[in-house]
Amino acid sequence: MGLLFFALFLAVSAASADEDAFIGVNIGTALSDMPNPTQVVALLKAQQIHHVRLFDADQAMLLALANTGIRVTISVPNDQLLGIGQSNATAVNWVSRNVLAHVPATNITAIAVGSEVLSTLPNAAPILVSAMKFIHSALVASNLDSRIKVSTPHASSLILDSFPPSQAFFNRSWDPVMIPLLKFLQSTGSFVMLNVYPYYDYMQSNGVIALDYALFRPLSPNKEAVDPNTLLHYTNVFDAVVDAGYFAMSYLNFTNIPIIVTESGWPSKGDSSEPDATLDNANTYNSNLIRHIFNNTGTPKHPGIAISTYIYELYNEDLRPGPITEKNWGLFDANGMPIYILRLTGSGTVLSNDTTNQTFCVARAGADHKMLQAALDWACGPGKVDCSPLLQGQPCYEPDTIAAHASYAFDTYYHRMAMGDGTCNFNGVATVTTTDPSHGSCIFPGSVGRNGTFTNSTLPIPSSNSTVSGCHSRYFGSSDAFTTLVVLGVLLCGVTFL
Ligand SMILES: *[C@@H]1O[C@H](CO)[C@@H](O)[C@H](O)[C@H]1NC(C)=O
Ligand SMILES: *[C@@H]1O[C@H](CO)[C@@H](O)[C@H](O)[C@H]1NC(C)=O
Ligand SMILES: *[C@@H]1O[C@H](CO)[C@@H](O)[C@H](O)[C@H]1NC(C)=O
Ligand SMILES: *[C@@H]1O[C@H](CO)[C@@H](O)[C@H](O)[C@H]1NC(C)=O
Ligand SMILES: *[C@@H]1O[C@H](CO)[C@@H](O)[C@H](O)[C@H]1NC(C)=O
Ligand SMILES: *[C@@H]1O[C@H](CO)[C@@H](O)[C@H](O)[C@H]1NC(C)=O
Ligand SMILES: *[C@@H]1O[C@H](CO)[C@@H](O)[C@H](O)[C@H]1NC(C)=O
Ligand SMILES: *[C@@H]1O[C@H](CO)[C@@H](O)[C@H](O)[C@H]1NC(C)=O
Ligand SMILES: *[C@@H]1O[C@H](CO)[C@@H](O)[C@H](O)[C@H]1NC(C)=O
Ligand SMILES: *[C@@H]1O[C@H](CO)[C@@H](O)[C@H](O)[C@H]1NC(C)=O
Repeated sequence: MGLLFFALFLAVSAASADEDAFIGVNIGTALSDMPNPTQVVALLKAQQIHHVRLFDADQAMLLALANTGIRVTISVPNDQLLGIGQSNATAVNWVSRNVLAHVPATNITAIAVGSEVLSTLPNAAPILVSAMKFIHSALVASNLDSRIKVSTPHASSLILDSFPPSQAFFNRSWDPVMIPLLKFLQSTGSFVMLNVYPYYDYMQSNGVIALDYALFRPLSPNKEAVDPNTLLHYTNVFDAVVDAGYFAMSYLNFTNIPIIVTESGWPSKGDSSEPDATLDNANTYNSNLIRHIFNNTGTPKHPGIAISTYIYELYNEDLRPGPITEKNWGLFDANGMPIYILRLTGSGTVLSNDTTNQTFCVARAGADHKMLQAALDWACGPGKVDCSPLLQGQPCYEPDTIAAHASYAFDTYYHRMAMGDGTCNFNGVATVTTTDPSHGSCIFPGSVGRNGTFTNSTLPIPSSNSTVSGCHSRYFGSSDAFTTLVVLGVLLCGVTFL
């Protein structure tokens, strides 16, 4: 038995150990202001994202991804599945239009045929495997089958009795589909695609699953879940679900097919019935997930076996129907601004570098307005901050409040002083934050900008004209209590920018 296990283990290793695990990102496009493909690719590049999954095979997107080195999984959308599964010719045509037209410039590495078909489109289940075979044979005909793998993403709800993992099995109703499907994946050297959502497992567990266990937070050893059959210890839901997938396959006697996680993530916002969809939980989940994957820890059943994972998802999709969480799975907004800054110390190979230390200096909430005004005047004057972006018509004019303008000026000063100790004080009206205060086209120094690049803290030198008039009209005109400062400010303003 031990020997058998070892042999099986080696087989799985061989199937996937030649490549380290990667983190990819899903790109959904249900946004009211969807960035164009060039902008999407600029964001991917700036964030060092080298693997993406598209939910279709959009021509413009595939063209924009050409010659970028980014590996792309394309998809046959569910609404095209029936046609392809019923006709080899349709499949050949699909491959010709969506694959042959783009390789090798665009590095298409996998085709996801449909999405969660067995759980969301059971009517198409009978033709699912045919569709995969037709697509595969079209790839064989073009000699692309070794480079492009064909598979289909499954919802993890297909796995029943998933804890303990050793007792898991695929819903037996689907055996007539799953068995030929796994045979196909095995014979073509492909992988099982699994969508793993500890968020939903946690939400649906009625308190059985602890939040920490779902979020990969450290658990005291007595809280770790132990599989009584294997004595394997589980420290997070993700690993348990992936292992349940392996055990469900071995229940059907398939032991050498690797698993790739096509979707995983955590929503950053929800309504009152979804209290754990928060920025902090989303950040914790995705940061811990990325570190876990890059660590090549594998799972308790297959330690060291890479589980490559695509995060769901790149953008918040405001047009998605359903609860608020549906619109809030993204890492970025439509402008390419991060929804939250991932905590990736020591894993700086994707989603920009270590940004743990990314801090901003902003006006303290509730600070006295006169003191804020004085500090703002000082920053834009003696502090030599270029306050021209705060002028009417400039990117940081709105919101036109003292606190918002002071925050911009404080942050600019703070970053010019290299975030040194005591450079975010301003007589106590300023405070350091890790939340990026940038908004719209007003990018704060230190921010990961519109396309993900770091903005320069030395902003362009403004024309002396606009700056002086700005000093008059904006900062020094309205404040009667600070007459002396006003005069001084105007003088300094002029001097500063001459
Ligand atoms: C980001 O945008 C800036 C200005 O819009 C541009 O100069 C820069 O080249 C862009 N960076 C990338 C990586 O596309
Ligand atoms: C395409 O992706 C595959 C798989 O990651 C890789 O081995 C190959 O080098 C890539 N090709 C190009 C041209 O980048
Ligand atoms: C699809 O058609 C091609 C060419 O007619 C043929 O070579 C191939 O075997 C067919 N594939 C399947 C899965 O029937
Ligand atoms: C198994 O799949 C069948 C067919 O889709 C479904 O009716 C049934 O509810 C599933 N069983 C469980 C326990 O989810
Ligand atoms: C798996 O293999 C065992 C032993 O060879 C056999 O008894 C069992 O029927 C097989 N199960 C399936 C689903 O093929
Ligand atoms: C990384 O792997 C090492 C050893 O394989 C393990 O001790 C450590 O807990 C892992 N760290 C994470 C964050 O998974
Ligand atoms: C991340 O930062 C480290 C050290 O600052 C640097 O060596 C590495 O090249 C950076 N990685 C990327 C992808 O920018
Ligand atoms: C983050 O800041 C801490 C304290 O200032 C420092 O020790 C650490 O090296 C910094 N990390 C990076 C990656 O810059
Ligand atoms: C900031 O601007 C200076 C001068 O234009 C340039 O040398 C430097 O590389 C820039 N830094 C970044 C991070 O863009
Ligand atoms: C300053 O204003 C004058 C008069 O309006 C104009 O001729 C000049 O070009 C402006 N200088 C700059 C640098 O904008």
